[in-house]
Amino acid sequence: MASYIIDCDPGHDDAVALLFAAKFLPIYGITTVFGNTSITNTTRNTIALVDAAGLKIPVAKGAAKPLKGSIIKAEHVHGKSGLDGANLPDGKSQPRKEDATNFLIEAASNLQDLVLIAMGPLTNIAMAIKKAPNIMSRIREISIMGGSTSFGNVTATAEFNIFADPEAAQIVFNSGIPMRMAGLNVTSTFGITAPQVTMLCENTNFLPHNIGLSLNHYFTQQSKIYNRPYAPLHDICAVIPHTHSELIQYQRMYVDVECEGIFTRGQTVCDQRDIVTATSQASEKKANCDVALSSKGDTIVELALHSLLTYQ
Ligand code: BDR
Ligand code: CA
Repeated sequence: MASYIIDCDPGHDDAVALLFAAKFLPIYGITTVFGNTSITNTTRNTIALVDAAGLKIPVAKGAAKPLKGSIIKAEHVHGKSGLDGANLPDGKSQPRKEDATNFLIEAASNLQDLVLIAMGPLTNIAMAIKKAPNIMSRIREISIMGGSTSFGNVTATAEFNIFADPEAAQIVFNSGIPMRMAGLNVTSTFGITAPQVTMLCENTNFLPHNIGLSLNHYFTQQSKIYNRPYAPLHDICAVIPHTHSELIQYQRMYVDVECEGIFTRGQTVCDQRDIVTATSQASEKKANCDVALSSKGDTIVELALHSLLTYQ
């Protein structure tokens, strides 16, 4: 059985995905990264969630900024704290002494069968690959929420997690470690609805109630930007292939990341020519990634809710 490390920037959908993953998978550790908000806030939120859920999972603090350029955040969606709406007390646990990069390298060195699930900018993982490429090459798979085969959400072409650190994403996609990518083309097609948020808010148990309150904030913010009757739970899609593989369909193809481009910086360029032409010769590059193309979204949301309701 594989061991899992979750790299995340909670983040409302990160919080749901984290709590869901902990119900189904042996989580060896969690590494935090800047993204939806500062690294101070994402680490604080991670420890608050882990402690509130009674999970005994080590947390290692990661990168505060991208490899190049300046930090972008998503506070217009997740609020200043990154988890606005929830009233979780600060956790009592402390982050590990080693940082996320060293935690990842040590885990890749010590564990026989390690899978990384990444839900934020890929900075920590890229730094670990740069520092110890041979050790990191032992990793079985990196399953990410990020990118898109089509439209973006920060720019017309770029998704947030990739746009937040395109240079890091380029290193990770070109590392030779098997990649799995759930992008916006799938993750934004379904989500939690207003009645489902209300149902969580009305739950009398502390954690489901507070996740409900946080999702109420998230739903409200999402509704200001997008005209759709649901709020996507993007990050859970990086977990699903390892818990309920029948719910997301992936196709193997070559993916790289555009780091230049006036209009396209941060775009995941997905070469679908072999799929369209049903050959393996149209693309001159070797496939490096399984890319999500369709999903049973309603079932994923039901499972997410069900898992949240098992917490106290
Ligand atoms: C991704 O960006 C973040 O805001 C979410 O947590 C998710 O990881 C969606 O583009
Ligand atoms: Ca995230």
